[in-house]
Amino acid sequence: MNKANNFSKTLGVKQIQIDEKCTVHNVNKIKVIGGRYKMDPYCPICEQEKQQKELDQLSKRVIEQEYKNYLKNYSIINRRSALSYTFANFEVQSHSKEATLLMQTRRVAGEYYQDKDKSFNTLLFGNAGTGKTHLAMAILNAVNDNSNPWQKCLFLSVSGLMQAQKNYFSDPANNLWSSKYTEHVVKDADLVVFDDLGSESAISQASNFVQETIFDIYEWNQRIITTTNLSLNELKRKYEPRIVSRILEGGKGHLIDFTQIQDKRPFK
Ligand SMILES: Nc1ncnc2c1ncn2[C@@H]1O[C@H](COP(=O)(O)OP(=O)(O)OP(=O)(O)O)[C@@H](O)[C@H]1O
Ligand SMILES: [Mg+2]
Ligand SMILES: [Zn+2]
Repeated sequence: MNKANNFSKTLGVKQIQIDEKCTVHNVNKIKVIGGRYKMDPYCPICEQEKQQKELDQLSKRVIEQEYKNYLKNYSIINRRSALSYTFANFEVQSHSKEATLLMQTRRVAGEYYQDKDKSFNTLLFGNAGTGKTHLAMAILNAVNDNSNPWQKCLFLSVSGLMQAQKNYFSDPANNLWSSKYTEHVVKDADLVVFDDLGSESAISQASNFVQETIFDIYEWNQRIITTTNLSLNELKRKYEPRIVSRILEGGKGHLIDFTQIQDKRPFK
């Protein structure tokens, strides 16, 4: 006799098999007698299935949260407020250039969330303050809200990542972003924004280490949305051809041009 039965006995509760059978499983039902609560006779198999279903639903909810919170939990974002950028709070006048960009990025978001296995990279390029980061984050939020099955979204500020890796080198005990950790986080993500490429160094040619790190990111994940202030020609001057070809690999419809847009940052 197991502990649960012992415990029941001390409370004066007993379970007995009755003649009535479960119409689904054709086994005798169990009746609980004694104790304070009245309870209908139950089928042990139905009961077990019900509990299993509840457990499955619970673990499904836990996994869903793991996916939906991936963005919040693993990203490197310069300003946390950027997490709230959406298509809905991107303001446009109808028939404006901004409206076209909104439409183009919405379409890209749709492609990413409708098919988790569709691999292509996207580039948002153009001047400062024109909404590239806003719309890149909006794509991630739209994918988080609309994809079925769920997708893990990740936002990495390029300069933030370089800084985080530097911190790791100088103090591994108190920092997370080793190359191994970065690899894990980037590979595990279904969609990545690599924000502000070019901001990681002021010099015209990126150092070998930086080139290597950036190349690795595009190797580890084939669904990357890059934003940059650099023009296509500047990108080609600054980065190795193997990096540039990956960034541009998405081709037509996935190269989104912000160069004609006015700076929206308030004057300081
Ligand atoms: N059309 C818009 N509607 C609402 N907010 C906007 C719009 N365009 C830009 N913004 C806001 O202006 C600020 C600057 O935009 P954002 O950071 O997206 O620019 P960016 O192109 O990424 O600039 P940078 O190249 O300097 O990184 C953000 O706070 C963003 O939310
Ligand atoms: Mg930006
Ligand atoms: Zn049953």
